[in-house]
Formats: sequence, structure tokens, C-alpha cells
Amino acid sequence: MKIAVGSDHGGLQVKDAVIALLAGRGHEVIDAGTNGTASVDYPDFGEKVAEMVSRGEADQGVLACGTGIGMSIVANKFPGIRAALVTDEFMARMSREHNNANILVLGGRVVTPETAVELVAAWLDAAFEGGRHQARLDKIAVLEKQACGGAGA
Ligand code: RB5
Repeated sequence: MKIAVGSDHGGLQVKDAVIALLAGRGHEVIDAGTNGTASVDYPDFGEKVAEMVSRGEADQGVLACGTGIGMSIVANKFPGIRAALVTDEFMARMSREHNNANILVLGGRVVTPETAVELVAAWLDAAFEGGRHQARLDKIAVLEKQACGGAGA
């Protein structure tokens, strides 16, 4: 699977740990930056990852900033993106099983890199349950189209 990963300075350590996990699992990883500790603006990096997933240039995405909140707001502006900010394994698993999240968002000042890796693994290992949950995602896609006129993946 092709997975795009991005962060600002607040999520840098989490990003690097997640990239190591994904590469170790044999995924094709696109590192969208940032790649230094200098203060940067999270929308610039959230945009890169969300756009790639929205356009189908990446299958999934992982984003990290200090809290994960800013990256969530950015990513969910893009058509077809279901970005989920998670802080524990239950949320990570449910974000796949019920919400079929295509971008996982983490807070580098909320979870350790070690925990972040566990959350990404739980999300990747879970399976979307479909059924009534698909019907709910269909409703979200309709809302997106009504609100934004978006194509909605
Ligand atoms: C950067 O200081 C911080 O605001 C950012 O990483 C993130 O937490 C925003 O939501």
C-alpha cells in the first residue's frame, strides 16, 4: 500500500517513528515533510498528504502536529477525506471499523512516538465493517457534495 505521511515540527518525532513502522511493514511511504525542527505551518503539510489521498495518488495518509487538531481540520477540507484524530487503540481501531478513516491523525505532544506506532498498527490491522457504517459514510458523502459540490471519493 502507498501511504503518505506528513507533520509539522510538533509531530516530527511521531512522523519519523511512523515512517519506520510503515517501511518495516513493506509499505511504499511518501514523506511529505517537514524534515527539520524549525517551526512550520501545519496546513502546508496537511495539504500535501490530504491532496494525495483525495486524488488517489496515495491509498492512505498519516498526519501529525502538536495536538493533531490542526491537521484534522485541514485534512477534512479535502473531498473524500475521512481524517480521524485518535489518542488510544480503541479509537484507532474504530476509526477503521466504523468510519473507514483514510487518514489517521496523531498529536506529537499528546502521544509518544511508541504509542503513535501502536495506534497506526491498530488502524492498519483493523477492517472496515461496511453495512450500516457504509450507509452512514454515504450520508457524509452526500453532505459533502451538498456543502462543497465536491466529487467525494
Ligand atoms: C504548533 O505550535 C501547533 O499549533 C501545531 O503543531 C498543532 O498543534 C496545531 O493544531
